[in-house]
Amino acid sequence: MSPVPGLRVAQLHLAADGPAWVELFGLAFLMIGLEAIGGRLGAGRTPLPRRRRWGRQNTTNDEVTRMASEATLSALVGRLGFIGAGNMATALVGAVVGRRLLEPGHCAVYDVIDDKAQALAGRWGVRACRAPEEVLAVSSTVVLATKPQDLPAALASLRPRVRRDHLLVSIAAGVRTSRIEALLPPGSRLVRVMPNTPAMIGAGAAGVAAGSQATAADMRAVTALFEAVGIAAEVPETALDAVTALSGSGPAYIFRFMEWVQAAGEALGLEAELARRFTLQTFVGASRLAAETGETAAELRRRVTSPGGTTAAALEVFESREVGAVIAEAMRRARDRSIELAS
Ligand SMILES: NC(=O)c1ccc[n+]([C@@H]2O[C@H](COP(=O)([O-])OP(=O)(O)OC[C@H]3O[C@@H](n4cnc5c(N)ncnc54)[C@H](OP(=O)(O)O)[C@@H]3O)[C@@H](O)[C@H]2O)c1
Repeated sequence: MSPVPGLRVAQLHLAADGPAWVELFGLAFLMIGLEAIGGRLGAGRTPLPRRRRWGRQNTTNDEVTRMASEATLSALVGRLGFIGAGNMATALVGAVVGRRLLEPGHCAVYDVIDDKAQALAGRWGVRACRAPEEVLAVSSTVVLATKPQDLPAALASLRPRVRRDHLLVSIAAGVRTSRIEALLPPGSRLVRVMPNTPAMIGAGAAGVAAGSQATAADMRAVTALFEAVGIAAEVPETALDAVTALSGSGPAYIFRFMEWVQAAGEALGLEAELARRFTLQTFVGASRLAAETGETAAELRRRVTSPGGTTAAALEVFESREVGAVIAEAMRRARDRSIELAS
């Protein structure tokens, strides 16, 4: 039995269906997967040095920053509250309380649907509040985690109790800080964040932008908070539209690309379930390879692209159809739409 279950399946199918398959699907993708698990199939290619192959053995600058953020999260954000206990709030509460970055008793949630707040209280031991004012009373940092269209109503209920020592964090997509600040008492400290859905599994990417009254310490606190569910970077608010076009909408581009790859695999004769599993594993494997080795995507691509080989044949089609230009145009449109929606 192969030590690699996925490889065994592939071998069985390769044996059954013959060389056309190998040409179409197998070698380049399998090489990537095997490289990722430390295999030795890369005949004629330079294997990655072992130290670089297993990124966990190294401590990168990002990891050092992240560990420091974790150690100081509690000191930075103080007591944390949430208005809205939906997907994003659930991800953040699970990350900060589940990883003991904050005490459960230092975290409070309110939702118009009390059951949602109670569910988080039951799961993590955080405080479920009966009213938004209660969140403000017990929190120093308050994440506004409602849908954008519900934000004005949420702000109306908070406004009378917001003090200057509160730090407010809006994650509502496409709502500018100037609009939110107009609904808050003058001088309110606000930070706006554009997160993305992989935050729900701790693999998010978030752009963090300052409102007019936010301090450098506020920015550090909010950046550290979102580093608990992935990576985060400070950007000017004008850049959040580009962040939306890249990482905000980005997961959907990848999902669409996965659909195309899977469908193309099926069109080439692969059984649907195998095409689905191999598509998924190829994206996971390639992403992890890029993340864990620290090599650039261009370098990794060159390594699996032998002149005149199968991968080169496929990439030539991408180049001749100018797929790069198509993606650039798609992201420009997403950026422009983000600007329109915020206006
Ligand atoms: N999910 C993501 O990956 C993602 C990515 C980027 C940005 N965002 C932003 O994050 C925000 C939250 O998204 P989500 O997916 O977590 O939304 P969600 O699951 O719908 O959660 C929002 C929760 O807030 C509740 N709510 C509505 N009005 C409220 C009020 N006045 N006071 C307290 N709670 C209220 C909602 O109740 P009802 O269900 O009854 O309305 C819902 O339970 C959105 O603004 C979104 O734009 C999310």
